[in-house]
Amino acid sequence: MPRLYVISASTRPTSVGRGLARWISELAAEQDAFDTGLLDLGEIALPFMDEPEHPEAGVYRHQHTKDWSATIAAGDCFVFVMPMYNGGFSAPLKNAIDYLYQEWQNKPVGLVSYSAGKTGGAPAIEMIRPVLGRVGLRPAARTLSVPAIDAYVDEQGRFTATPELRAQARAVLDAVADLAVAPEVEHASA
Ligand SMILES: Cc1cc2nc3c(=O)[nH]c(=O)nc-3n(C[C@H](O)[C@H](O)[C@H](O)COP(=O)(O)O)c2cc1C
Repeated sequence: MPRLYVISASTRPTSVGRGLARWISELAAEQDAFDTGLLDLGEIALPFMDEPEHPEAGVYRHQHTKDWSATIAAGDCFVFVMPMYNGGFSAPLKNAIDYLYQEWQNKPVGLVSYSAGKTGGAPAIEMIRPVLGRVGLRPAARTLSVPAIDAYVDEQGRFTATPELRAQARAVLDAVADLAVAPEVEHASA
């Protein structure tokens, strides 16, 4: 089974989206299509990108980069669970992507966004697309954007989905699973 990592892209200690990421990973585990793990960028706590070489070289000086590289290299596909901050995706997610290159190449990614407001962070999904293209990640055709995120997360940080959200999240995971078995394409770096 492909190894799927759900990446929680908020590093705030009070992150609301962490509950959504946990729920997505539980749903993925239920679907029996993946060997699922959850990565929390708040726990991983990468500093701002501090490698002397370009990531494309794959030559890493720092232990935090070697660890991050090994983790992402072990993943076959991903789901990014992203808060929207000021109309875009989170800076820690961009930083975590920028650290690596080969490790992301040709791997499918499902995009899940959330926000306090009505858009559910859909603009953050559009904003990340060109970045995914640069590192060769292949976005799944289906996405999920959760508006008014606070309404779904209780005081223990547990996310409770509506049937509609559950169906949309399943569709994202199915689309990632489909891509995970699709033939790889040669990535042309722009
Ligand atoms: C720096 C910052 C910027 C934000 N910008 C937006 C925004 O543009 N639109 C919106 O609907 N919500 C915005 N919010 C609200 C977040 O979507 C909401 O607080 C969400 O819970 C953040 O995710 P997190 O708790 O997992 O970090 C912002 C929150 C923060 C902290």
